[in-house]
Amino acid sequence: MYESDRAAEIYDLLYQDRKDYAGEAARVTELIRERKPDAATLLDVACGTGIHLAAFAKHFDEVAGLELSESMAARASRRLSGVPLHHGDMRTFELGRQFDSVVCMFSSIGYLATVDDLRHAVRAMSRHLATGGVLAVEPWYFPDTFIPNYVSTHALKSGDQGQGIARVAHSTLEGDTTRMEIHYLFCDTETGIQHRSEVDRLTLFSRAAYTQAFQDSGLETEYVDTGKGSPGFFLGVRK
Ligand SMILES: C[S@@+](CC[C@H](N)C(=O)[O-])C[C@H]1O[C@@H](n2cnc3c(N)ncnc32)[C@H](O)[C@@H]1O
Repeated sequence: MYESDRAAEIYDLLYQDRKDYAGEAARVTELIRERKPDAATLLDVACGTGIHLAAFAKHFDEVAGLELSESMAARASRRLSGVPLHHGDMRTFELGRQFDSVVCMFSSIGYLATVDDLRHAVRAMSRHLATGGVLAVEPWYFPDTFIPNYVSTHALKSGDQGQGIARVAHSTLEGDTTRMEIHYLFCDTETGIQHRSEVDRLTLFSRAAYTQAFQDSGLETEYVDTGKGSPGFFLGVRK
């Protein structure tokens, strides 16, 4: 998953076109400030290529990121000069400092395979919160909200660099896991058309599993439904 530079490049171009990163960052900032009005620092866990971080930097005095994939982090560091980007696993990281807010966006937590992994990740994120600090985790879908055999498509042309991408994904159910098979056609002026594919597996953790992981980490916990078919947010305030 996102281990090659090409995979990170395709991700970066595709999702800038597919998602409203600035709008999402503004909405999450609102959710954080409603619970901690003076929040000035933010850590983005599984920050990917840093697109949310670039937007969060407009709302917070200080931001930092954590990411497992070297290729994704390399793109993030090209995007964000002067922003600390840490290499690490969300289940085990230890940065030796605390933040007013910690976020984990775009269902990245769904890449974890077990409830134990989920608990370790929420605990690690919560350890990095100052007292009164806010954790915001965007979950993957729940067992009752995932639509099996879902087909999704997207195509774009990136004007200035003459690059084209087409993405087709098919998501099926494997036990409590979503198996998402994704095919990409990528074209640029130098290489012509290339094909790559990947299979991502995201766990359909229950609402109860998220809530329990938050409560066991000492967080006052709530779920906010953000509507429009999105998975919403689990929010926790460190007591
Ligand atoms: C769907 S992408 C989201 C990236 C970014 N948050 C965004 O919104 O564009 C999922 C990200 O989670 C990262 N990831 C997966 N498992 C991880 C783990 N255990 N620890 C840290 N990052 C992880 C992947 O490398 C990838 O960058």
